[in-house]
Amino acid sequence: MRKKITIIGAGNVGASTAQLIAKEGLADVVLYDIAEGIPQGKALDISEACPLWYSAVSVRGTNSYADTEDSDVVVITAGFPRKPNMSRDDLLHANADVIKNASGAIAKTSPNAIIIVVTNPMDAMAQLAWKTTEFSCRRVMGMGGILDASRLRAFLAWELNVSPEDIEAMLLGGHGDQMVPLPRFTTVKGIPVTEIMKKNRIDALIQRTRSGGAEIVSLLKSGSAYYAPAAATFQMIKSILNDEKRMLPCAAYLNGEYGVKDLYVGVPVILGKEGVEKVVEIKLTKEEKAQFRESCASVRKLIKKLSI
Ligand code: APR
Repeated sequence: MRKKITIIGAGNVGASTAQLIAKEGLADVVLYDIAEGIPQGKALDISEACPLWYSAVSVRGTNSYADTEDSDVVVITAGFPRKPNMSRDDLLHANADVIKNASGAIAKTSPNAIIIVVTNPMDAMAQLAWKTTEFSCRRVMGMGGILDASRLRAFLAWELNVSPEDIEAMLLGGHGDQMVPLPRFTTVKGIPVTEIMKKNRIDALIQRTRSGGAEIVSLLKSGSAYYAPAAATFQMIKSILNDEKRMLPCAAYLNGEYGVKDLYVGVPVILGKEGVEKVVEIKLTKEEKAQFRESCASVRKLIKKLSI
């Protein structure tokens, strides 16, 4: 039997993720949204593309959680995107209500699901989804680091005039302006960029990565990025459903790792059929540790505001 993926929120990120899953024939998809007609219309549109992709999966749209029953993976993209001059954190209270509602419903209808939270501010929303569902922390995680790393990889590829395929990037911390890129673990075919680029150029590209989401928001004027967020989410789903055990930067629950307790924040993890199968600890330099602590503190501030 094919696996079942529910996507909560049939907006830009949700529908783009559904499209990638359908195109790859990875699993059946249920697209859920509170807006009537939107998930049904987008699901029908994607279904009508399936013959062209030689894909036999089913894609259905719904406004009822009953149709999401027994999903293997649930992706939460529901909520409000940023507007120009808004930070991800400005979405906190509006999106918290959406996450509480959605994760409460998922806990009832798909008690064995693995949940990927995309809604911003993502680290805090992942922690809220975990608290609400009372699922094992291995089965609740957030998408952020893969997207940030992909942005940095794209910028490096343009700067160095090499294929982005040959670039690997690693970063830590919250999916926000205080993310912690790790240039010494960012490589071109295994060669650290610190060996082949000037520090000021690396710093400039890191800065562009930090504000990568805002750059797109200011260009779009309404709405936020969705092609790359959907591609990053798809990579996580694929690693879980195919038990690929990829090492990817995701928001995961830390319970002592990196000296951090009781907090969702971005770290490298092994993603497989059990969800977050391992948090990978890297030995950090003094400066990286300080940046990571600062990033964790800003996520914790949001958690405090939510009183969870
Ligand atoms: N339950 C289900 N769906 C909801 C709910 C809810 N309670 N509240 C809002 N939605 C739906 C909206 O109807 C809309 O279709 O969530 C969808 C959000 O889609 P978009 O506005 O297109 O936003 P999108 O760009 O997809 O971003 C969604 O992901 O990257 C983050 O910051 C981004 O938090 C935002 C989220």
